[in-house]
Amino acid sequence: MIAETVKWIGGADGVLEMIDQRRLPTEFVTLRVRTVEQLHEAIRTLAVRGAPAIGVAAAYGSVLALQWLKSPASTQDALNHAVRACEYLATSRPTAVNLFWALDRVRSRAKEIASEPQTTPQQLAEAILAEANAICAEDIEMCRQIGENGERFIHDGFGVLTHCNAGALATAGQGTALSVVFDAHKKGRRFEVFADETRPLLQGSRLTAWELQRAGIKVTVICDNMAGFLMKQGKIQAVITGADRIAANGDTANKIGTYSLSVLAKHHGIPFYIAAPSSTFDLSVESGAQIPIEQRNATEVTWIGSTHVAPENVDVCNPAFDVTPAQNITAIITEKRVIENPNEDRIRALLG
Ligand code: MRU
Repeated sequence: MIAETVKWIGGADGVLEMIDQRRLPTEFVTLRVRTVEQLHEAIRTLAVRGAPAIGVAAAYGSVLALQWLKSPASTQDALNHAVRACEYLATSRPTAVNLFWALDRVRSRAKEIASEPQTTPQQLAEAILAEANAICAEDIEMCRQIGENGERFIHDGFGVLTHCNAGALATAGQGTALSVVFDAHKKGRRFEVFADETRPLLQGSRLTAWELQRAGIKVTVICDNMAGFLMKQGKIQAVITGADRIAANGDTANKIGTYSLSVLAKHHGIPFYIAAPSSTFDLSVESGAQIPIEQRNATEVTWIGSTHVAPENVDVCNPAFDVTPAQNITAIITEKRVIENPNEDRIRALLG
């Protein structure tokens, strides 16, 4: 495993450990999260980020919440406490559906267990921990299967372009888009990855390049505005990214800049793949138009590190995600199978 991005240590009285992704690649530091407030802050400030990783981390939130319950408490008190933690964590970031999917799972399981006669608060905490551990284990397995299902799309001699970070750091396992890359590499295929730096927070240059270097895969960092030029020069044979939310019709929200890449790829006749687990699909939204897009702080754009790179008080637009229409997507690689030319019928057939 390239990185253990989120890891629960111990039993119901344990602690959530995560790699602090704000500090990579210059420092490798882990963070121990002991309260729901710290977890909310870690997600909001991108200490932990990437749709599946956010979901897995948030799943442990209710276990942390119950550690702070004043005893003696009734099981109903404990349940209320756990549910409130889920509601609070759901306000940390709006776009990645994995967050809401994981919190819904934990909340349903907590309600189910609490409704059984004689359940104690301790048993409730243990049941929630078991559910969070299951979500984490499933994510690891889904990542593995995505790699297996997608590696055939990367051939010898390819230039593969990726955007943001959809690797181990974005999941509990070996990533989604990068899982495909890792598996192609394991099969002995020789290719090069171009990592968009991914302004404004540089997940591509800071995180994707770090992961690929550690895995011994040839990686070249480019500024986001260089992709079209490289495509025109014939250096890119496939584009592959992750996803934060996929609507019922296949429209896909991912890191800002993904949409532009899909347009460029279509123009140059280059296949454009999305790699995502089924936890990233949201069949309750019909199209990308209904996916909420996170707007982030202007300072992410006007500052790079400690350097001010724009005039004081200039207006800034900083959407963290955009939506790629299904028509621009060659295929969605999931843990179940690959959906070519995604549309609502094909997606519903896969997910039921
Ligand atoms: O703002 P971030 O860093 O959380 O955005 C992450 C992305 O856009 C990833 O590409 C996406 O979550 C897929 S992760 C497997």
